Amino acid sequence: MQHPSCARVVVTGGAGFIGSEFARVLVERGYRSVTVFDKLTYAGNPANIADLAAYPGFTFVQGDICDAARVDEVLADADIVVNFAAETHVDRSLLHPGEFIQTDVFGVWVLLEAARKFGLAKFVHVSTDEVYGEILSGSSVETDALSPRNPYSASKAGGEMMVLAYAATYGVPAVISRGSNTYGPRQYPEKFLPLATTNVLEGRPIPVYGNGRQMRDWMHVRDHAEGIELLVREGRAGEVYNVGGGNVRENLLIVEYILDELDAPRDLVTHVTDRQGHDIRYSLDTTKIRSLGWQPRIPFEDGVRETIRWYRDNRSWWEPLKSGEYEEYYRRNYAGRELVR
Ligand code: NAD
Ligand code: TYD
Repeated sequence: MQHPSCARVVVTGGAGFIGSEFARVLVERGYRSVTVFDKLTYAGNPANIADLAAYPGFTFVQGDICDAARVDEVLADADIVVNFAAETHVDRSLLHPGEFIQTDVFGVWVLLEAARKFGLAKFVHVSTDEVYGEILSGSSVETDALSPRNPYSASKAGGEMMVLAYAATYGVPAVISRGSNTYGPRQYPEKFLPLATTNVLEGRPIPVYGNGRQMRDWMHVRDHAEGIELLVREGRAGEVYNVGGGNVRENLLIVEYILDELDAPRDLVTHVTDRQGHDIRYSLDTTKIRSLGWQPRIPFEDGVRETIRWYRDNRSWWEPLKSGEYEEYYRRNYAGRELVR
């Protein structure tokens, strides 16, 4: 691609957790312009990008990736689009799958049409390891069959298929990243680590699904954002790259770190009815992206403990989020769950 100092990048979903960190990486690395295009759903938060407003090349545009006219306005003057925009929470996808199909499949198609029309130099689509489905041993490689098992991961797989179809059919220079579970500052407190941490800070129980022995392949948000930035520069069109932290750990270990770091009583841990269709384990083989020169840098325990302290020290970021719509969702998702041992 052209030198970053010449590249005009649109980051869709850039007011969310990972997209905002990615926009920060682009700003730090001197990209010519960085435009965050975001609908500001419940998960989008202007506070996540407030620090970027001072950068001369930075712009925020509120809009929906499903709105073709609005997408055209923003992509007409872009060289590269990196798509983070998505409905992202598995539990919500069990409650209302339609919104996931709308943004994670239809919205991706709208972006692809615009990328094709304006002849963009690169289309980086941010996907997830969840498209492989659970893997009980070993690690998923990019050539493995996709086997999504919930409406979120199925929608993400659908979006990916459209991206690959546009790459093969129309030559859209598209690259897909499949990231593993990401943690760090500014993650919406519906996801496990910030939910459990902020619950403890409020003296509320930690709801652990089932026995808590499910495993995720954890990665710090900075490592994830830097991996995607490398794909912007070096990812080959039509290719898929796993981006994973290599830290396959049980959920209960995260709980241990939270209790320890916040010096909280163990009886806050509450095992509740398991998630329907809960994937037991994810693990990514990252040989392919490592061959381009990326590797995760932040050690798991250090990164998790530092993240827990960030939520402890930044109540003004999360407290306003845990009201209104959030409380309603929380009741819907957790109220009927039975206690299990
Ligand atoms: P997030 O929920 O924090 O943010 C999503 C952002 O997308 C929000 O700012 C939201 O307002 C915006 N958005 C949603 N629908 C939109 C629409 N129709 N038009 C425009 N903007 C819209 O999500 P995240 O955790 O930062 O995830 C970002 C991407 O990374 C997603 O595509 C997700 O599938 C993928 N991913 C996430 C993880 C993870 O662990 N969080 C892991 C791997 C991949
Ligand atoms: P989550 O952060 O929702 O990410 P994903 O389901 O996309 O991997 O959940 C991470 C793990 O934590 C997953 O195994 C489900 C579990 N979990 C709980 O045990 N309790 C909860 O309240 C939540 C939200 C998740």
